[in-house]
Amino acid sequence: MAVSRFLDKVCVQMDRALKVLTPGAVQARREYPVATLSPELNPQERQHVVGLMKINHTGEVCAQALYEGQALTAKTAGTSAAMIHAAQEEEDHLAWCETRLENLGAKPSVLNPVFYAGSFVMGAAAGICGDRWSLGFVEETEKQVCAHLDSHLAVLPDVDAETRDVITQMRIDEAEHGDAAHQLGAAELPGPVRFGMKYMSKVMTWSVYRF
Ligand SMILES: [Fe+2]
Ligand SMILES: [Fe+2]
Repeated sequence: MAVSRFLDKVCVQMDRALKVLTPGAVQARREYPVATLSPELNPQERQHVVGLMKINHTGEVCAQALYEGQALTAKTAGTSAAMIHAAQEEEDHLAWCETRLENLGAKPSVLNPVFYAGSFVMGAAAGICGDRWSLGFVEETEKQVCAHLDSHLAVLPDVDAETRDVITQMRIDEAEHGDAAHQLGAAELPGPVRFGMKYMSKVMTWSVYRF
């Protein structure tokens, strides 16, 4: 019985991973948050914005994997449900990043499966440490994501209002996710863990921008 339940969970997780890693498989619940589509960018601008949106897209792939991992090992059913709910909200971001990449004539990073797997393991490990630490992980992640999004907003070409609108809405949502984790009792992560997370995100942004 325990084996069949375990296999059930493995199948559900494989299905989720496949869905997240297949462009177009996840549908946004909210509308694409863009007033007007951007005109065609010049080649340098386009290449830079594609790199930035690949980073944001991979960040959303990682968010899905982290939440799935955390939900799997959460100590209480309530926290597990909260993690699943958060992953569903993040699906909008994943779909919007895919749409922006598509409109730029680009594809997501080929490294996404690697980052999905790594993030899933990190999420599961955070869940095993306990719900307060797991929520602390969410709060810190969202804080770092907001800083990233701010840095992207600062370097976008002026003509690219479409990307600006997408990132601005994501920035609002991510700040809310961080606040929600804080309200639910997130613990403050130790300095070395925060530093490790920043280092991992540097590895991700450097490699995904290029591949
Ligand atoms: Fe997100
Ligand atoms: Fe978020």
